[in-house]
Amino acid sequence: MTRVLISGITGQDGSYLTEDLLSGGAEVHGIVRQSSLLQRTRLDHIPALAAARTDGRLKLHYADLSDSSSLQWLVRQVQPDFLYHLAGQSHIKISFDMPEYTADSTGLGTLRLLEAVRQGAPGCRFFLAATSEIFGQAEESPQNEKTPMAPVNPYAAAKVYALNLVRIYRRAHGLFACSGILFNHESPRRGENYVTRKIARAVARIARGLETTVHLGSLEPRRDWGYALDTVRGIQAIANAPAPDDYVLATGVAHSVRDFCELAFGVCELDYRSHVVLDPDYTRPVEIFETRGDASKAKRELGWQPDLTFEELVHLMVRSELDALDRGEENR
Ligand code: NAP
Ligand code: GDD
Repeated sequence: MTRVLISGITGQDGSYLTEDLLSGGAEVHGIVRQSSLLQRTRLDHIPALAAARTDGRLKLHYADLSDSSSLQWLVRQVQPDFLYHLAGQSHIKISFDMPEYTADSTGLGTLRLLEAVRQGAPGCRFFLAATSEIFGQAEESPQNEKTPMAPVNPYAAAKVYALNLVRIYRRAHGLFACSGILFNHESPRRGENYVTRKIARAVARIARGLETTVHLGSLEPRRDWGYALDTVRGIQAIANAPAPDDYVLATGVAHSVRDFCELAFGVCELDYRSHVVLDPDYTRPVEIFETRGDASKAKRELGWQPDLTFEELVHLMVRSELDALDRGEENR
């Protein structure tokens, strides 16, 4: 049975990846960190995951990206065939508020895990969730694996460091270390302080009369927004490729935050202009105006391409929020 270790298992991508791996018959181990509340809503409320925890195919272990000894011990104990490294502080605005923590978790956390693999399980395939943010405000569009890295925020700088480490460990130590240069990917499980989920949630609450407005930063930035489940399938294709390499995963199409608002409010026959309040609290010291990825290498070498369209994604996210409200539940 394939044994997989996931950092960031409680996050959006971690929960989808876990579901996929379990349905493919893998034994999954996840890193969770200590907190005062045992809220793991993306894991606990998904029946297949709850069942796998009962029958022992899904095991959670306490560790932290800041704690080398816990990571070293865990990698030695589990002896994973694959390590999907998805954890880290990933919110760009927060990375300006907490640059040191971001560098430590996202940057040094990757180093600690790579060392744990090199020393304790050198045959393990290591996957890093890198990001389109490494390109900054790129001079070329769309961006591909050869586009120069030019980060403009602390999170992106930490991911550049992490990606460079993956390349170094591949070359210097011969590890199967690979990465996905992931463009934005969203879903009903997206964190609530990312713009798509924030908008989808607000639309449902406004439609049900619970709120009247949503405060947003700029509506002009454009992002290459895909569906998290499509991305998670690409991540697995990268980790299972014949040789370790880095691949862009993207849709190739960019839309503005305004486009997202227009479509999302439109699902409930609302006009976003009556409900969106522009609020400088949600702008960033440096903004990237557009990201758009070229995933032709992943298509050519791995046969990967995204499935869900932008319109379908927006619809899915708003419907999911409405359904949760109508069931009297919080969406996860
Ligand atoms: P997410 O929902 O924010 O999940 C982040 C995960 O990291 C959570 O499980 C979190 O645990 C864990 N974590 C954070 N700090 C940790 C620490 N110090 N020690 C251990 N675990 C820690 O992120 P996501 O959207 O699934 O993204 C997954 C990865 O892909 C991230 O590395 C992100 O940077 C990268 N990425 C994402 C996108 C995107 O559009 N989603 C695009 C490009 C790259 P808690 O639940 O305890 O907080
Ligand atoms: N979060 C947020 N909240 N963003 C807002 C808001 C708001 O109220 N109003 C406007 N925006 C704009 C941001 O300024 C940005 O231009 C865009 O909406 C998307 O913001 P986020 O959803 O926070 O995502 P991101 O693009 O900054 O970063 C995400 O994608 C990266 C990949 O490109 C994160 O998942 C990163 O971890 C990831 O690497």
